[in-house]
Amino acid sequence: MIDAQLTAYLSDWLSLLLRFLHVVTAIAWIGASFYFVWLDNALEEPPKWKKDKGIKGDLWSIHGGGFYEIAKYTLAPEAMPKHLHWFKWEAYSTWITGALLLTLLYYVGANSYLIDPSKADLTPWQAIAIGVGSLLGGFLIYEAAVRSPLINHGLTFGLVMLVLVTLFAWGLNQLFGARAAYIHVGALIGSCMAGNVLLGIMPAQRGLVEAVKRGVEPDPKPALIAKLRSTHNNYATLPVLFIMLSNHYPMTYGHEYGWLILGALALIGGWARHFFNLRHRGIVKPWILVSALLAFCVLLILVRPAPVAISNSGEALTNTEAVALVQKRCATCHSATPTDKVFTAAPSGIIFDREDQVRGLIDRIEARAVLTHDMPFMNKTGMTDEERAKLGGWIARQRQQH
Ligand code: HEC
Repeated sequence: MIDAQLTAYLSDWLSLLLRFLHVVTAIAWIGASFYFVWLDNALEEPPKWKKDKGIKGDLWSIHGGGFYEIAKYTLAPEAMPKHLHWFKWEAYSTWITGALLLTLLYYVGANSYLIDPSKADLTPWQAIAIGVGSLLGGFLIYEAAVRSPLINHGLTFGLVMLVLVTLFAWGLNQLFGARAAYIHVGALIGSCMAGNVLLGIMPAQRGLVEAVKRGVEPDPKPALIAKLRSTHNNYATLPVLFIMLSNHYPMTYGHEYGWLILGALALIGGWARHFFNLRHRGIVKPWILVSALLAFCVLLILVRPAPVAISNSGEALTNTEAVALVQKRCATCHSATPTDKVFTAAPSGIIFDREDQVRGLIDRIEARAVLTHDMPFMNKTGMTDEERAKLGGWIARQRQQH
């Protein structure tokens, strides 16, 4: 007989394993793609004997105790090599592990992770349908845009996508918990990126190989579109990584305007990537990186939650009352012996069983339950705004006394 505790325990291991695989495959994918972007931009003019063989770019490097000689052909080698490495499974396996992780956490665990009854009282199946449907819809919109004339106007394309992504984040934030909305935006961008490999880059490469094998001139159009898709992926990498990581930091997704912050972070991330892209081509424009950094600092200042004023926090809580409040609203999960059915081990190791444990964590309690409404998780224990204000006042007084 498999009981609830065992199920939760095994599902935690599965989640850890999938997360691990997702990160490892993503490192392989992004790492390879960073390497090839760098490679293309660092190629030098080859000596004549190489040129005569059809080589247009030459590069020497040293790594791991050995010399590497790399040659890029203008078109193709005279004869096809026996082994040609393709670099596609990095992308596919990142997508597959990501899809499994999303399914396990947010769809199997829809009640705990996806549905926020204070926003929309959805049944699990409704919420899952909206989640999957929105990803599919977003993906189709991107694919339609790639096939439209808009593809030829890089900057406009980027800005239109930025606006759409921000609207997507806003829409989902009306229906789902704030974290779930963020992760769906990351999943959408990641899916479009994997789609670029599957639907654009791979077919173009297969066409190229076919043409070389048959000794005919390859059609340049698919290769051009593949290059553009690959550029989109390049600009999306930093924003998508940032969105994925920010899922553990409630000052982003947990903010009242979390969806707008996401748009701003995507813009800043893309802008920072632009600096590195130009630099690889020998164009160094430090002000791009500086302005990205400045914009980031401005964002940081703008979104800072207002500190709690003790005078506005209502009737003062006594120490006993404050600890009791934290225990009532938080210790169903954050305890050595949780009573919550889903979170059967104290999440993130945070435990509020004793007064000293509560006191030791006032900064983090304030960050998660007063300045943002990130905790209680999905407000499962129904903490009120008044309780948050009172707790904030108590925390502020504790600091004053020390
Ligand atoms: C329904 C279960 C549940 C309740 C109730 C709950 N939490 Fe959590 N808490 C979680 C989960 C799940 C995480 C892990 C989230 C993550 O991965 O970022 C967490 C993480 C935390 C963290 C650690 C975040 C970090 O810095 O790593 C803090 C602090 C926290 N909760 C505080 C609170 C406070 C304060 C309350 C009560 C006001 C509360 N929690 C109520 C489930 C709960």
